[in-house]
Amino acid sequence: IIEPKNGIVDITAQQGTTEIFKGTKTESYGYNGSFLGPIIRIHKDQTVTFRTKNDLSEPTTFHWHGLEIPGNGDGGPHQVLEPGVTEDVNFTVNQGASTLWFHPHPEGATAEQVYKGLAGLIYIDDENSQKINLPNEYGVNDFPLVFQDRQFNEEKQLNYQAVLNEDGTIGDTLLINGTLNPKLTVGKEKVRLRLLNGSNARNYTFKLNNGATFQQIATDGGFLNQPTDMNEITLTPGERAEVIVDFSKMDDKTDIALINEEGITLLPFKIEQKAASTSNIAQKLNDFGVTEEEKNLPVTKKLELFGMGTMVSINGSQFDMNRIDFTQKQGDTEIWEIYNKPDMMGGMTHPFHIHGTQFKIVSIDGKEPPLNLKGWKDTVSVEAGQTIKLAVKFNNKGIYMFHCHVLEHEENGMMGQVEVK
Ligand code: C2O
Ligand code: CU
Ligand code: CU
Repeated sequence: IIEPKNGIVDITAQQGTTEIFKGTKTESYGYNGSFLGPIIRIHKDQTVTFRTKNDLSEPTTFHWHGLEIPGNGDGGPHQVLEPGVTEDVNFTVNQGASTLWFHPHPEGATAEQVYKGLAGLIYIDDENSQKINLPNEYGVNDFPLVFQDRQFNEEKQLNYQAVLNEDGTIGDTLLINGTLNPKLTVGKEKVRLRLLNGSNARNYTFKLNNGATFQQIATDGGFLNQPTDMNEITLTPGERAEVIVDFSKMDDKTDIALINEEGITLLPFKIEQKAASTSNIAQKLNDFGVTEEEKNLPVTKKLELFGMGTMVSINGSQFDMNRIDFTQKQGDTEIWEIYNKPDMMGGMTHPFHIHGTQFKIVSIDGKEPPLNLKGWKDTVSVEAGQTIKLAVKFNNKGIYMFHCHVLEHEENGMMGQVEVK
């Protein structure tokens, strides 16, 4: 975890080797290290400078996924840093407590650079987050869990080009926080897990092997209004969720694990008897809602997602750096309607993401979203055939990307630009 010193956070993209497999050096990328990155902890209303530096031998950008930041600091494909270059990104934190992340976004190389290890987390705290009694001791009862799948070759190296799949590169090896076969030791208490699906393309469904429910407390960009009981939760690439697992009620002699929908163990827990906090989490966490006015707004932007592989498109076109697809006024709320048009094969789910904003899901196929999607979002899973309405407001000006967060789809042009004036 790093925090601003005199308002400054140094973040350097680097290349090196990391020991993922015992005794083997795997070539990788990372921020402030050779693989993945730190957690940057910042506070609402704080003025911060991210001092970014590119120590890679190729151009990169620093994109803050989920952060409401002026377009020129957003780190999209326009803000390329050549090797050796340093740049300051100044902004004031203007959104509530949340778990965001950051990753590169250079045109044509986003997917490969993320695959090699460029990804980190941003925690935003605010006054509310300190009052609602959540587990918040990092590494004790508050853990980040970054899920990424990778394919290693016989030499235990990541050769992205060799395994690239135009519909999303997947791998047979799960890494959590960059670690192979991790275990998590927890106390007999309520534990907060901050889940990020940082994969290029794979979706994850999480549940507990003993059938216990857990409580979801946050979406991508903030707390739900109340802790929401869940049996399982699915995250598409780019999405986050915070959940509370209550280990105080679990038997420490049985094996508890986080599993996927096929019952495969993703993360085993080891429950330790240790002095643990027993505080009760507040029942009211936030004050989020879609207003009547927002429900009645007309659709002013329509987006049709279509295609597969290299033929993916939004409204029939592919990304062009020199084309602005939409404009929107700063501070105005508009309804974006996202339609995932099926193809002859049925089609696939596209995780739709907008930069520089947290939006509200107004409806999914005309119906209210489920309780656990009633919170701030920046990435939403749009299944084939679905139509999702979003209330979108930008608090800053500039050019922002919107795209499918299957990184190979993004790379293949399933991306557009909105200019906020
Ligand atoms: Cu995770 Cu264009 O972003
Ligand atoms: Cu983003
Ligand atoms: Cu897609």
